[in-house]
Parts: sequence; structure tokens; C-alpha cells
Amino acid sequence: MLNPKPTKKSFHALPIIVLCSSTICSFYICLVCFHQINLQLVSKLLVSDVPSPRHHRIISPLEPRTQPVHVSDIPSINIPSQCDHRRIADLEWTHFPRPMSFKRGECECTPVRFFAILSMQRSGSGWFESLLNSHVNVSSNGEIFNQRRSRSSSFSSITKILNQVYNLDWMSSGSKKECTAAVGLKWMLNQGIMKYHMEISEYFKKRGVYVIFLFRRNLLRRHISLLANSYDGKFKPLNGKHKAHVNSPKEASLLARFKPRINTTSLIRELEKTQRSGIRAVKLFKDTNNIMLFYEDLVKNYTWKLQDVMKFLKLPEKELKSQQVKIHTEVLTEQVMNWEKVCRTLKGSRFETFLYSNYL
Ligand SMILES: *[C@@H]1O[C@H](CO)[C@@H](O)[C@H](O)[C@H]1NC(C)=O
Ligand SMILES: *[C@@H]1O[C@H](CO)[C@@H](O)[C@H](O)[C@H]1NC(C)=O
Ligand SMILES: *[C@@H]1O[C@H](CO)[C@@H](O)[C@H](O)[C@H]1NC(C)=O
Repeated sequence: MLNPKPTKKSFHALPIIVLCSSTICSFYICLVCFHQINLQLVSKLLVSDVPSPRHHRIISPLEPRTQPVHVSDIPSINIPSQCDHRRIADLEWTHFPRPMSFKRGECECTPVRFFAILSMQRSGSGWFESLLNSHVNVSSNGEIFNQRRSRSSSFSSITKILNQVYNLDWMSSGSKKECTAAVGLKWMLNQGIMKYHMEISEYFKKRGVYVIFLFRRNLLRRHISLLANSYDGKFKPLNGKHKAHVNSPKEASLLARFKPRINTTSLIRELEKTQRSGIRAVKLFKDTNNIMLFYEDLVKNYTWKLQDVMKFLKLPEKELKSQQVKIHTEVLTEQVMNWEKVCRTLKGSRFETFLYSNYL
């Protein structure tokens, strides 16, 4: 004998199930859409020549939160007892390091801010850093994680070095003593950042590290610079010894004399890879306190862009200067051996605009 009761129940349940699943479906579609819009926004920023907003910060509440990571060995903030607490605003983002290697003397009560420049090779970060270091209160310690692979081989060795840098105990040509108001380093995306992104972003958030993204919009120019630099690094034919950065127009013209031949089979794939890694880094570190800079904007008017950076790091505004000279100043067509083939490869692709860009 049939029992009508469950059948009736399921008839009632059917519309509810349909309603529920359609709600879930549309929520999911929304989520995907927002995710894509967000991605498009970032990629637009990385590719196009539209001026970026002054303080760009991407926040998407719909993105799943990353799991909290336990980051140990973070020194706590200690305000020296003799300092007047009331005069220090925005405590969360300031620090009062007590270096082991020297005494800060009368600057002991001057707060220090921590920063990290996240960039890629051949994106003008050396030039940018030399400009920053011309500020009397900035110590930017260069590419610390470039020299020995073991330095970024585990997160605990990374923390150890970061703690040393931010305690003003890391000595480099860029480090200054006593009255440093901002201390940091230059860090390339291929130097362990992506591998330990969860831990590093947690470290940045917990210690209040200001993140400065520095990218180059024209990835083709970056690619050419990369090829020329690696050729010079391997064969050193130009100035007798390898130079990634130069300080005189004569050296620059010698370096620029080499014209690389671009492998057009892998070109688009290479450009895509570079673009993806930039977008990924911006997404992974979006919850940090950050600012986004483009090399092209710096070249156009660095005084103006550096004011943004000084404001961001709450530094006293100063005029900044660098000794470095740009290597490739010629039009693109003159910089590559197989230019015609490169043109044919990029025409019709989304990287086509890189061919015509006038940026130096
Ligand atoms: C910057 O450095 C100068 C010279 O050492 C010092 O007098 C000044 O107090 C410093 N400013 C800050 C904000 O640290
Ligand atoms: C160009 O790239 C392709 C694909 O990566 C590779 O197979 C080829 O050997 C490269 N050609 C040269 C001349 O390096
Ligand atoms: C740089 O930008 C600032 C602010 O927009 C402007 O006042 C200044 O004249 C510009 N400098 C150059 C060299 O274009």
C-alpha cells in the first residue's frame, strides 16, 4: 500500500530546493563575476597606460580569506620609556628599534616605519631605490634575498633577516644610522615571496610593513632589458665587467649597443607569465598597507610620484636625486635585431600596444 504522506512532503520540498539551488547558483555566478572584474581591474592596471589612482588599494570582500598563519618570533613594539607617548600618533605603524650594532642616540624617540619594495627585475627598482636612499632618513638595503639562495630557503631564515633589517642591524651601502625614519629592502617576486606569500603577508600585516609595488607596464621593454642584461652578465663584452646599472651616459650607450634577438616562439608565453605573476602578487598582498607604482610614471615625473611615496611612508618631504643613468633610451625598433618578426608576433595580440608605446 502506498503511503501518500512522504510524496506530499516532497512536493512541498521541491520549490524550496529549486529556490535554494538557484540562490546558490546566482550567488556563485556573482562571486565568479566579481572575481573576474577584480582580476580585469588588476590586469588593466598592469597593461594599459591609464594613469593609476594615486593610492591604489584593491579590496574585495568576496574573495575568500586566507587562513591565518602563525608567524612566530616577531619582536613586540617597545616604546622607550623616556619618550613622550602622546607625541606619537598612529602607533600601530611605528617602531622604535634598538639596534645591537649601534645606539640611536638622540633619535631614539623618532619613530621608524618599515617598508618593502616588491618588484621584478629590470623594472627600474634599482633607480627607484637609489632615489629613495638619497633621502637622509631612508635606509633601503637593496636586494637582500638575491645573493644567496639559502637566505630565502625557509620562512624562518627569511624572518630572521627581516627582523635584522627592521631592527636597523642590517649593514649595506644603503643603510644609515641613528635618524632613520623608514627602513626597508627591495624584494623581487622570484626571490621566495610567492613561495612563502601567506607567511610573508602575515608578517607584513603583523609588523605594519608598508608595501610598495613597483611594476613596469611595458613588459616588452622589460623583456629586452632582461635579455640584454643577461647577455652582459654572461659575456661581459661591453664594459669589461658586468653592470646591471650604470652611472654615466657613456657606459649606458656602450651597454645599449647590444641588440638582443628575441625568441618569438616563446615571446607571448613569456609576457603572459610575467603579467600573471604581477597580478598574482598584487592579489596575494592586497590586505597589506600598500601603494602601487609604475616605472613609466616615475620616468615621466619622478618628483611627483616620489611625493606620493614620501607621503605614504610619512617621511619629511625632500628633493630626491639619483646618479643612475637610463640604459635604453633609443626607440624600440632600434633595440632589437629581429624587430619585424617581433612586430608580426605581437600584432593582434593583447600585447600589441607595447610595440607603439613611447615610454622610455
Ligand atoms: C632625519 O634625519 C635628520 C638628520 O639625521 C634628523 O635631524 C631628523 O630628525 C630626521 N627626521 C626624522 C623624521 O627622522
Ligand atoms: C625558442 O623558444 C622555444 C620554446 O620555448 C624553444 O623550443 C627554442 O629552442 C627557442 N629558440 C632559441 C633559438 O632559443
Ligand atoms: C610633475 O608633476 C607635478 C604635479 O602634477 C607638476 O607640478 C610638475 O610640473 C611636473 N613636473 C614635470 C617635470 O613635468
